[in-house]
Amino acid sequence: MIDFKALTQEYKTPLYVYDFDYMAAQYDELKEAFRGRKSIIAYAVKANSNLSVVKHFAKMGSGADCVSIGEVRRAFLAGIPAYKIIFSGVGKSDDEIREAIERDILYINVESAAELERVELIAKELGKVSRISIRVNPNIDPKTHPYISTGLHDNKFGVDLSTAKRMYILANNSEHLDPVGIHFHIGSQLTELDPIRESAEIVADLVRSLQNIKIELKFFDIGGGLGIKYDDETTIKPYDYAQAILGCLTALDLTILCEPGRFLTANAGYFVSKVLYEKQNGTKKFVVIDGAMNDLLRPSLYSAYHKITAVTESTSEPRPVDIVGPVCESGDFFAKDYPLPELNHNDLVVVHSAGAYGFGMGSNYNTRGRSAEVALENGKARLIRKRETFEDLIALEKEFLED
Ligand code: LLP
Repeated sequence: MIDFKALTQEYKTPLYVYDFDYMAAQYDELKEAFRGRKSIIAYAVKANSNLSVVKHFAKMGSGADCVSIGEVRRAFLAGIPAYKIIFSGVGKSDDEIREAIERDILYINVESAAELERVELIAKELGKVSRISIRVNPNIDPKTHPYISTGLHDNKFGVDLSTAKRMYILANNSEHLDPVGIHFHIGSQLTELDPIRESAEIVADLVRSLQNIKIELKFFDIGGGLGIKYDDETTIKPYDYAQAILGCLTALDLTILCEPGRFLTANAGYFVSKVLYEKQNGTKKFVVIDGAMNDLLRPSLYSAYHKITAVTESTSEPRPVDIVGPVCESGDFFAKDYPLPELNHNDLVVVHSAGAYGFGMGSNYNTRGRSAEVALENGKARLIRKRETFEDLIALEKEFLED
């Protein structure tokens, strides 16, 4: 049991709390699922990019899946070795590509024919060879929320199979490109195995057809996307996941690269807020807390469900309330008609499953400083990010004030 009261007395609210031991256990379970096979777990930094979180995974031997040069730099700072860092994303700038090549990361995940040309040109300018992988869009419905579905041709991600094949041939013939991997990622919060298996089958077939023309890849990058329990979802077991993938790779000697984000961090995280007021408009009851959509956007953006518990002495019967923040938007809510008992000023409200896509999707909307972040490891708490102050928020503007 985490003592949220003690933590918030020390670190104040709103506050992100991450259980580092839980993260480690998740990492171990996934790594173990691929035992007996060469594999790299490349933590998807976007899920929670706090340097201490990334360092925690680095210490366990994790790689990093990055989607901006900022994330690549974070991975380096946190101690992830270059040969375990990959760089994905549909819109890499020339500067980002240049830095990734100079830093000699494992590979750049190329997402279009036009991008391949840029990578080749920049590698040529640098007099280097860039290792690449191509993100294939297998046109499979991942059966998840449309905003986090990525493997259909309607989505902007990756390239279709025939384009991928042409790109591999081009890369293989280039002096400045070394095609080493193939990648697919069909979506996030996946709870069904079939779409993953189908995609792996399609991509493995492409690997075989490349072998037939003497293009030998080394890495089979299965993306991330493993779903977690926010509520009572049935989720995929890491062992079954690994078996399904490995089942598609018969006679292929490839290193598996897996890019989990949410699976590793989501249920390790709690977002803790203080109750400011209760109020009622007509028959509608609201609990106003000091955290808001700028801290945790998922409910507002995706109507995402997060379990919520209260830390209170109150013994009243739970009644349906909307849990809302102080931001000036009706979309600023954490849950609607959620059963909570009557709460008092300064009681705590804990939003669960907040360790992935929580802090990272935060903003300073309404000139609100972002929360502090705290790690719990071996029963000890430590600060891993300070609370932002008003001074932090205006630091880049102040000098431009004119009389
Ligand atoms: N690899 C690639 C290429 C990705 O695009 C993503 C996530 C991952 C790995 C990690 O996916 P995960 O294992 O965490 O599902 N903000 C949304 C999720 C966006 C996911 C974007 N890509 C949310 O809050 O649900």
